[in-house]
Amino acid sequence: MSHWDFTDPFRDAREESGVLDGEFAGEPIPMILRHADLRRAARDYRSFSSDAPFRVPIPGEEPFRDVRELPIETDPPEHTAYRALVRPFFERPRLPEVIRTVGELTATLLDGVMGRGDVEIIAEFAIKLQSRALAVMLNRPAEDGLVWENWCSNILYDGATRADFYRYLDRVLPESAADPGDDLFGALSTATFDGRKLTHDEILGFAILTFAGGRDTVVSVIAFALVHFADHPEDLERLRADPSLVPGAAEEIVRVCSPLTHIGRTCSEGAEVGATRIRPGQRASLCWAGANRDERVFVDPDEVRIDRQRNAHVAYGYGRHFCLGVHQARLILRSLLEQVSRRVVEVEFLAGTPKYDEWPHYRRQTGFETLHLALHPIHKEDTTA
Ligand code: HEM
Repeated sequence: MSHWDFTDPFRDAREESGVLDGEFAGEPIPMILRHADLRRAARDYRSFSSDAPFRVPIPGEEPFRDVRELPIETDPPEHTAYRALVRPFFERPRLPEVIRTVGELTATLLDGVMGRGDVEIIAEFAIKLQSRALAVMLNRPAEDGLVWENWCSNILYDGATRADFYRYLDRVLPESAADPGDDLFGALSTATFDGRKLTHDEILGFAILTFAGGRDTVVSVIAFALVHFADHPEDLERLRADPSLVPGAAEEIVRVCSPLTHIGRTCSEGAEVGATRIRPGQRASLCWAGANRDERVFVDPDEVRIDRQRNAHVAYGYGRHFCLGVHQARLILRSLLEQVSRRVVEVEFLAGTPKYDEWPHYRRQTGFETLHLALHPIHKEDTTA
């Protein structure tokens, strides 16, 4: 039996018209479900604009922040310039020393959970790995990661975590402005845009997206991967026998999990998707999760095939806004797959509370609120290795 609900709520609409009439908090938003339509829309920023503060996420995030997230809520040419400012930090997960450090973090955290029986994996492993690895990517002190790991997996939507997060930024951003270090906050405090320094709101906009964009998503795919191994021990075995399958398996896990269901665009001039007309000023949804199950592109799209070839999934987006955190997400997931397959003989599913993205017109699992697993080490002595 499967412990992840693989139901694809978009199948019928994707086949019939390619568009699902969504409604979010009272706002009608058509969801673009076909892979080809979605990629066309994602490329066409003039018709499908991101220049809409708070309204790229669906529903909008006005209740949770009062600054525009950067660079995501902008179009070219501003987007190109904003993105270039932070890109060096998002490239850091390709550096050998960062790869090594994140590998060591993964190993240490695995040491702490293997061979212990029932472990709540979200709080005790996934959030910790995401937080500590983010500190490495941003070149912040390791102690910062230890602070962030006490926050919930959704930084903005949980009131207590949001308050802690904003308090943290209120403390570190002025410190960085007074004495810029070689971390992300230091770089933002000295960066220039359009011949001037960034405003406080712009710096906040970068910081909020960096923390919010890559937390829930990474935590979800870690949970998905481990539950997949619980349900399919043969895939754990295959990765152990052939570690060269790890990078492809990491992409396939992200495709099927698609932790970010969709993202919004605003069609100021109106637009057409197949036979569907999007009215001027209306928002549309680029539904990554729907396109990732498109039968025209993926054979047996509901199945996890860790050796899938030509995996043109769009879980990380497509076009100019393609996920900046992709190298970080890949690094974390690959080191997880590599180490779990090498050191864990069995992942045992004990209990879990699934997390759903749920609306009147669709419902899909995106993760687990809590997840209890037992990770049985290959060798007894590996519990302390
Ligand atoms: C499995 C993990 C992840 C998934 C599935 C994911 C998904 C996405 C998607 C679909 C987009 C495109 C948004 C759009 O077109 O409007 C995006 C953009 C972005 N993501 Fe991720 N993401 C992940 C991890 C991360 C991480 C770890 C970070 C940061 C540490 C991050 C930071 C960003 C940023 C800054 C953007 C905006 C890029 C731009 O506007 O140019 N993401 N992500």
